[in-house]
Amino acid sequence: MNTGKKFNPKKIQKLTDPGRKVFQNPDLIWDTLNLSAPEILVDIGAGAGFFAMPLSDKVPKATVYACDTAPELIEWMETNIPTRYAGRIRVIRSEENSIPLADGIADLVYMINLHHELDSPLTMLKESRRLLKPGGAILVIDWKKEETPMGPPVSIRISPKTVSEQLQQADFHLVTEHDLLEYHYFVTAKKPGA
Ligand SMILES: C[S@@+](CC[C@H](N)C(=O)[O-])C[C@H]1O[C@@H](n2cnc3c(N)ncnc32)[C@H](O)[C@@H]1O
Repeated sequence: MNTGKKFNPKKIQKLTDPGRKVFQNPDLIWDTLNLSAPEILVDIGAGAGFFAMPLSDKVPKATVYACDTAPELIEWMETNIPTRYAGRIRVIRSEENSIPLADGIADLVYMINLHHELDSPLTMLKESRRLLKPGGAILVIDWKKEETPMGPPVSIRISPKTVSEQLQQADFHLVTEHDLLEYHYFVTAKKPGA
């Protein structure tokens, strides 16, 4: 269901703009996660692979599943992600509330600029938990709920407090908000287990 919150694939140049690296720096994001030798990463709402590619570069032996619901963006990634990522980035068409991957495979599930678009955030957080290995990490980055020079209307943004509460409701622990990015909040949590 398109509730009007969804990213318009015709505006793909917004997702590929290299200027985004100034305020959503993939290196900074990666370093903050401090993962030890992850093998499987799941990018939910991958868009144009803006984060899937640099994160794959950090762990070339890992697999990054780049999932999206929009057929136009799936096709764009399949056509435009450079061949050097073949076998390392796997593009997956997913559904609004489900990802067609097996239970307990992922070391990291991340969603960047997605949370405010979800029809049922709690359902997607539970789905993320299903995908994670015990001890696996989840990362949610989204626009701060305040005026910023760009980004979606403030009225549809979700506060980090709400995201943290939803993560707890989805049975994550060690929910932590990191003050890192100028226009975005950055929340991490872990699936209990290992
Ligand atoms: C604003 S874009 C962000 C893309 C990318 N994460 C980035 O920051 O460059 C949001 C993306 O999430 C996708 N999306 C929306 N709802 C989704 C869902 N329930 N599951 C997976 N992808 C979804 C949209 O099609 C779009 O590509």
